Amino acid sequence: MTDLSRITRDVALASSVLSNGGIIGMPTETVYGLAALALNEQAVARVFATKGRPTSHPLIVHLSPEENVDRWGVFNENAHAIAKAAWPGPITLLVPRTPLVPDWVTGGRDTVAIRIPSHPIAIELLNRVSDGIVAPSANRFGQVSPTRAEHVLQDLGNDVDLILDGGPCAIGLESTIVDCASEALQILRPGKITALQIAEITGLNMAITNGPSRAPGMMISHYAPHARVELCTSLDEATEKGIAYEKQGVSYSIIHHEDLTEYALSVYDDLRLADVNGVKVVLAVLPYDDGIGTAIRDRLTKASAH
Ligand code: TXA
Ligand code: MG
Repeated sequence: MTDLSRITRDVALASSVLSNGGIIGMPTETVYGLAALALNEQAVARVFATKGRPTSHPLIVHLSPEENVDRWGVFNENAHAIAKAAWPGPITLLVPRTPLVPDWVTGGRDTVAIRIPSHPIAIELLNRVSDGIVAPSANRFGQVSPTRAEHVLQDLGNDVDLILDGGPCAIGLESTIVDCASEALQILRPGKITALQIAEITGLNMAITNGPSRAPGMMISHYAPHARVELCTSLDEATEKGIAYEKQGVSYSIIHHEDLTEYALSVYDDLRLADVNGVKVVLAVLPYDDGIGTAIRDRLTKASAH
């Protein structure tokens, strides 16, 4: 049984649970995170165990806008420029770590992923704990990311000490991850902030990572519901396939939104809903490869790879 009383809007309570070594569901503008204090080894170990995630897949350190980011990472000119333009916001920067950052956060790597989120409740929480918070998305490993407090409760239930409710996430897809640690900037995971925008900020051209990703945890199958996800290139194609499935007695749903912002906001909800309704097949219409459409295509493609 999951316990609804675990969901709270009390930031002071959430902060004290974290400071006492607990783990909580935490809102951000992208998706909900499974939060622990970065410097508490046992709490971070519980995050990995609760998610069922291998410890070789490192975590993002979330910092307050008040925090001196140089304590945590070494920011070169590009990293500084992106941070200045895009933080607080939905972008994560991969930079060389400082000695402050423990191995249990980075999986022993010499880089650390850092993000200053813009969600006001996340900021209030970060200010209260006045320390780094690690937060992978608050779902079990490989499954669909949560965009509402209730999703965290459904996924992780009583395995978290508390869920801080900040309402539905404003973006609905995880942050863009940019590798600033190597010579050429690379996007490791597309998000709301696009390669084009980063190229404008830095005056550099962005390379989009292809092939084996340098970010562990971005394996082919990810963000997947139990239903089989089939990709379609148009709504017409999805409708035709749907008619064929109906004839075979196979239950299905179609995921499609004309507006990209709305598509991003609702794509994880729609994938979850398919499982709630017990449909066998999700026919997902790929949006244009433009703006946040690139990130939606990325997540749907991974959700379709079983
Ligand atoms: O929007 C987001 O980024 C959300 C919210 C909660 O902030 N967080 C999130 O975390 O999506 P997570 O753990 O689900 O995804 C972070 C990705 C993982 O694939 C991880 O492998 C990669 O970032 N990553 C983290 N640190 C890294 C490092 N030092 N080197 C390479 N990849 C890293
Ligand atoms: Mg995740």
